[in-house]
Amino acid sequence: MTIPLQEPTLALSQTESASIAIFGASGDLTARKLVPALYMLSQDGYLPDHLPIVGVARRDKTDESFRNEMGEAVRKFARAESVSDEQWNKFASRLYYHKIDLAEQAAYNGLDKRLEEVESGHGTGGKRVFYLATDPKLFQPIVTMLDGADMIPNIDSEDVLRIVFEKPFGHNLESSQALTAGLSRMLREDQIYRIDHYLGKETVQNILLFRFGNAIFEPMLNRNHVDHVQITVAEDQGIERGRGGYYDKSGALRDVLQNHVLQLLCLIAMEPPALFQAKDIRDEKLKVLKTLAPGDPSRLDNWAIGGQYIKGGSDGNWMNAYRKEDRIPEDSNRETFVAMDVRVDNWRWAGVPFYLRTGKRLPRRLTEIAVQFKLPPLHLFTTVECEGDSCDLVGAKPNTLVFRIQPEEGISLTCSTKRPGMQYQIHPIELDFEYETLTESMPEAYERLLLDVLRGDSTLFTRSDELEAAWKFVTPVLHHWEKNNTEPKFYPAGAAGPKEADELLKKSGRQWREL
Ligand code: BG6
Repeated sequence: MTIPLQEPTLALSQTESASIAIFGASGDLTARKLVPALYMLSQDGYLPDHLPIVGVARRDKTDESFRNEMGEAVRKFARAESVSDEQWNKFASRLYYHKIDLAEQAAYNGLDKRLEEVESGHGTGGKRVFYLATDPKLFQPIVTMLDGADMIPNIDSEDVLRIVFEKPFGHNLESSQALTAGLSRMLREDQIYRIDHYLGKETVQNILLFRFGNAIFEPMLNRNHVDHVQITVAEDQGIERGRGGYYDKSGALRDVLQNHVLQLLCLIAMEPPALFQAKDIRDEKLKVLKTLAPGDPSRLDNWAIGGQYIKGGSDGNWMNAYRKEDRIPEDSNRETFVAMDVRVDNWRWAGVPFYLRTGKRLPRRLTEIAVQFKLPPLHLFTTVECEGDSCDLVGAKPNTLVFRIQPEEGISLTCSTKRPGMQYQIHPIELDFEYETLTESMPEAYERLLLDVLRGDSTLFTRSDELEAAWKFVTPVLHHWEKNNTEPKFYPAGAAGPKEADELLKKSGRQWREL
């Protein structure tokens, strides 16, 4: 069965149209994600015919050359099966390019004029979306200069401007607070869209629907029934060329745990929102972040482990150590892996361990949330488990509910059933739902998020207080590691992290799920 992706009710009408200016348009994100996402939105009928997109960057380009470059990118990265010349030319006619030195105040007047020209040909009614896909240290200066060029409407005027900020939003608690305070002098919170692309993933949104759209699971998700929760964001890739400069200042904790992993934790741990709308959902997520606590506060190493990959692999497939990657200092102590044992200290979850891990150069790419339930109170049944020639009778395995976010997106629940035969023997089974059976092509995260910005729906974006609470939790760990220049625990590239990460669980008789 194929579920059509078209949802005409969410399509924008011409009166809701806006112009989109992408700052940092010569970067990777624009080519790989943003323009392909806008192309797909347009193909699927979500964008009105007149919605111009202007690439803004420092490099010398014409509208023509920008269109050609983006054409190649869309053919390579969009999820369309094919892109015909006719389809591309129709979309390309809404693309423009404007060269600008973003550090020069005077240049912003030229940008404003160019946008007005483009907009007048499209009749967008003055509404604008600025997407800042630039170096984050330019966020504040760009907004200040936009303001200097009168391109930011008065703070209490109607909703005609929205600004999207790519991550990272701040480098730690102090810098993120400073950025929020600086921007709030010019922008209202509802004009600020902080992207966490994980929230745009179809399978991530399904966590909420699965939890609050079914009656049978929700009553089980609490400390009475759940033994522990594991959240994994594993990547097999190392540091891509050109990214080392950013990554070595960031590391796994800032790059993925502080945002993507904590957002996943919020969605699995939060209470049902009063209404399914941005404010209520974000209020509930905030409550989770505020109650986060270390699993064992007596010593940081007892609950937070930073790791770094060294050379690993095998004949024919050796992978470099992190310290040998492009633009990484030979003595870098930056973590490429982090594992944490944390608690959500509230009525529902008190005492339940939440084990979090993320890292680069792990055995494979896998993002999942696994909720492991407690065992039945009595072990009435057994099963035979063999390893090599030796077989043992063992008890039931705990039920585990797994949200597979990527790849092979789906949801599964492991259960015990009776093995056919004369005896009462357990036969473990998996009840499995795979997205593939519904649709061959799911919308990309950026499609969903860009459409939401245009529609003014901030549900899937991070609010300033959520961001602050997340930074509040991770910043002491960052400070501790950085102040002491703590050497990370090493693991060979291709392994499942350092052994110290295993110890986090072993001490309570648990173990990480296999990668
Ligand atoms: C980004 C990080 O936010 O997320 C990258 O900066 C990481 O380092 C990426 O590779 C992972 O995203 P995804 O969607 O591929 O899981």
